[in-house]
Formats: sequence, C-alpha cells, structure tokens
Amino acid sequence: MEFINQVHSKCICLCLILIFGAWSSEATSRNLEDAAMYERYEQWMTRYGRQYSSMNEKETRFNVFKKNVAMIDSSNSDVNKPYKLSVNQFADLTTEEFKSQRTGFKGLRDTPPPTTSFKYENVSIVPSSIDWRTKGAVMPVKDQGQCGSCWAFATVGALEGALQLATGELVSMSEQELVDCNVGGENEGCMGGYPDVAFLYIIEKHGLTNEANYPYTATDNMCNTKEADSPSGSITGYEDVPVNSEQDLLKAVANQPVSVCIQAEGLFQSYSSGVLTGDCGTDLDHCVTAIGYGTTDQGIDYWLLKNSWGTEWGEEGYVRIQRNIEAVEGMCGIATSASYATV
Ligand SMILES: *[C@@H]1O[C@H](CO)[C@@H](O)[C@H](O)[C@H]1NC(C)=O
Repeated sequence: MEFINQVHSKCICLCLILIFGAWSSEATSRNLEDAAMYERYEQWMTRYGRQYSSMNEKETRFNVFKKNVAMIDSSNSDVNKPYKLSVNQFADLTTEEFKSQRTGFKGLRDTPPPTTSFKYENVSIVPSSIDWRTKGAVMPVKDQGQCGSCWAFATVGALEGALQLATGELVSMSEQELVDCNVGGENEGCMGGYPDVAFLYIIEKHGLTNEANYPYTATDNMCNTKEADSPSGSITGYEDVPVNSEQDLLKAVANQPVSVCIQAEGLFQSYSSGVLTGDCGTDLDHCVTAIGYGTTDQGIDYWLLKNSWGTEWGEEGYVRIQRNIEAVEGMCGIATSASYATV
C-alpha cells in the first residue's frame, strides 16, 4: 500500500511538472514571437518616422500591424505567386482606414453616363508591349496624400499624356484645381469623384492650369479662380473605352495613357513588386492611369499602371496587374471604367 501510494504521488508530481513545462514553454515562445514582432514594429516606426500620440494608440496600431504582417508574410511565403507584398508605410492601417484615406473613386453609377464614341474601335494592329514612360508621355509619380482625390490624379495622368502626344511637351498639370474647382456636382474633392466628370470640367474650362501655378495640397480649399481661369492645356473631348473589353482597352492604351478605375481594397495596400494575379475584386474604389502593358519573361500578360501613392509604394510608384483574364471586367475591374482625353 505504502509503495503504491509512493508511485502514485511520484506520478502525479511528474505529470504536474510535464503539464507545467509544456504550458510555460508555450507561453514563453508566444512571448518571444510577440517580442520579435514588437521589435519589427518599432524598427518599422523608425523607418517611416511614425509617432503615436499615446501608448494606447501605439498598442492598437501594433495589433493592426501584426495582423497585416502575418498576411504579408504568409502571401510572400508562396513562391509560386508572381508578386510580392511588403511591410510598407501603410502597414499600420486597417483595410477600411486605408481605403478611406488613399483612394477616392465613388464607384460605378446606377445609371451609367451615355456612351461616347470610341475612336480606336477599328485599330487592328497594336505593339506587343508599350511603356509610355519611355516616350516621354508620363510625369513622375505623384502622391495624393490623405485625400480621396485619386480621380483627379488618374484624370491628370491621362491628360498629361494626351497633351504630350499632341504637342511634344510634357507639363505637370494641376490636380488641385480639380479638387478645389470641379465641385458642386458629382465630384467632391478629397471626398471622391469621377474621372469622366473631371474631363467634362477640363473641356468646359478649355484646359487646366499647371501644377506650378496651382500646386497640390491634399486638402479641400476654395477654388483659386485666378489660376483656374488661366488654363494651359486644352482638350477637345474625352471618350470612354467600351466596358468589359480588355481588347478595347488594349487598343486605347496602345495609343495613349488612359484613366482606369479598379478595386484597390485588398492587396494594393501592401503590394511591392511583380504582377498581381489574384485576390482582387471588382468593387471599384480607386482610379489610376494605365501607361502601358506587356508580358513578363514567365509569360504573364500585364497592365502597367501609374498610381498616386508616392514612389515608395510598389515598383517605384507603379503596379503591374494581370491582363487578359477570363472575367470580362478584367483584373480588379480594370476594363469597366476607362476613359481618355482627345486633343
Ligand atoms: C470603323 O469602321 C466602320 C466600318 O468601316 C466605320 O463605319 C466607322 O466609322 C469606323 N470608326 C472609326 C472611329 O473610324
């Protein structure tokens, strides 16, 4: 009896040690993992000069950061994906925050505007690739800041390209004039807008003034009518690319930079390089300028897009997304709301 009791108590004791050991080693490793993540967080804060107003805010942001980093690391661990994500300057923003600060397309209208003519409808030969940057038709990448003015940047990118092709001169044009002055209708400055409405404004005003005269502030201001009334680049009209046709979009982009709208919510926030090939919906929330297309060495067809989130994002401010996919809307809905200026 004595012997059995002894065995029993030894066993209980050993069991407790084992259980405690397993529990404590798990707790320690979890803490180490969090500690490593926290260190990464603080390095990231230094790298991007981020400061938070309180420890509370820092902790809240850490949890967002941690979640984003986990998603990014997991995506990057799949070597078969032809794109990479990175822990960039937007890594402490939730999807919703990012969308509200950095996009600005108001989405497809319930009643689409009347269709325009499409001057490239009979184009039958296009080059296998094009990059309008190499032809001097693309201004350096700009930054919309924390303002939902993507629609102004996409429009101006297409405008700058159209004017350069017509005149041979590349001039930076004013997004701020659109933000401040193209108001009172569907376009609402930093609250979002539509490129086609912006094109109509530019046609009516007989042009837009240039960036130097009316620089970008990333805020809504009173319209500077003196500058707005002295436009420089005038266009004769704008046309929409027929919807749901990557073929028609190709004909247009082969001939000039084109404003396109896409769904940026999702992978765009942390996109770093390569060709985005998936996990992208067609719930349009952002507009950019399509400035080329091509095919990678691996045989993936892509669209080359100029974004307005600065040069630190993506491929020095640009992004490539897959072209010629099965869905008629195109990757991220790129073929659903495209337009360009005619000069
Ligand atoms: C395209 O070709 C058709 C048939 O020849 C013609 O009616 C139409 O005007 C052409 N479109 C353009 C934009 O030139």
